[in-house]
Amino acid sequence: MKTILVTGATDGIGRETAKELAEKGHRIIIHGRSENKAWKVKEELNKINSEVEHKIAIADLESQQQVLDLSTQLKEEEDKIDVLINNAGIYQNQLEFSEDKIEKTIAVNYHSHFVLTLLLLPLLEKSDDPRIINFSSMVHAHNLDTDKIWDPINFNGSQAYSDSKLAMILFTFKLDRIVNGITVNCLHPGVINTKLLRQGWGAGGSSVEKGAVTPVYLALSDEVKGESGGYFVNKNKKKPTEAAFKQELQDQLWNKSIEMIKYQEILNKIPDQFLN
Ligand SMILES: NC(=O)c1ccc[n+]([C@@H]2O[C@H](COP(=O)([O-])OP(=O)(O)OC[C@H]3O[C@@H](n4cnc5c(N)ncnc54)[C@H](OP(=O)(O)O)[C@@H]3O)[C@@H](O)[C@H]2O)c1
Repeated sequence: MKTILVTGATDGIGRETAKELAEKGHRIIIHGRSENKAWKVKEELNKINSEVEHKIAIADLESQQQVLDLSTQLKEEEDKIDVLINNAGIYQNQLEFSEDKIEKTIAVNYHSHFVLTLLLLPLLEKSDDPRIINFSSMVHAHNLDTDKIWDPINFNGSQAYSDSKLAMILFTFKLDRIVNGITVNCLHPGVINTKLLRQGWGAGGSSVEKGAVTPVYLALSDEVKGESGGYFVNKNKKKPTEAAFKQELQDQLWNKSIEMIKYQEILNKIPDQFLN
């Protein structure tokens, strides 16, 4: 039985992924920002498999402080995390800022996951088959201005979303280069009928069951055991945009992402090798 943390497990693809992983006998840490919604998912998972004690973990990803508190809680309470699925996401129609003064799409979809992942590496390292899975999208951008994404001058919701999704690929590829013993992959789940899709593009899309296929595969399949640094669509490795492979761009984003960490306490908890 694996312990699997799914961010944004209270709705859409994350919720369905959590359900399917629970169905296969695994223990889920249900992350959400709404305690109410997280409890409802826990009840659903209990019905699927009552023998496993699933857990709720609350943090608003618009707050670095809450990400820090979440990681501290998990380090106190858990022996290990086998799989971290960085799924939570939003689509913003207007320019708004997180508690830490970062444009919200970038804060929630990318930067909070960057911080959470680095803080949870010690727990992942305790697994015998640790896996990190980052949600990107086929609409990821083709380039990134790593200075401007945090506070864009001419905000455009679609651009911010695409930027956040290229950031997730650049993060995946760089982390893969510098981490040892943990696999890290990213994915596009398909065009899936969720509230995020409706917010950004209107009604349509496939079922959440289809959306859960690739994350469940990357979390559990022996076919991808030891496989790292990939971008997957429909269980197959695909080539993302050329910019994703530029190590200089990966490094620029990484360095700027470290700079955008507001609390010294977070920086103190990140191993030195990841700080420069
Ligand atoms: N749907 C698609 O067609 C599609 C395509 C490509 C990629 N994706 C990616 O798939 C992932 C899942 O999206 P979805 O389509 O399943 O959307 P969704 O149904 O809207 O679910 C998003 C999840 O993220 C959570 N979340 C949002 N803001 C948060 C915050 N500030 N703090 C903590 N949690 C937060 C939501 O919590 P609440 O339940 O409280 O709202 C929900 O659990 C996203 O990364 C998205 O970019 C989706």
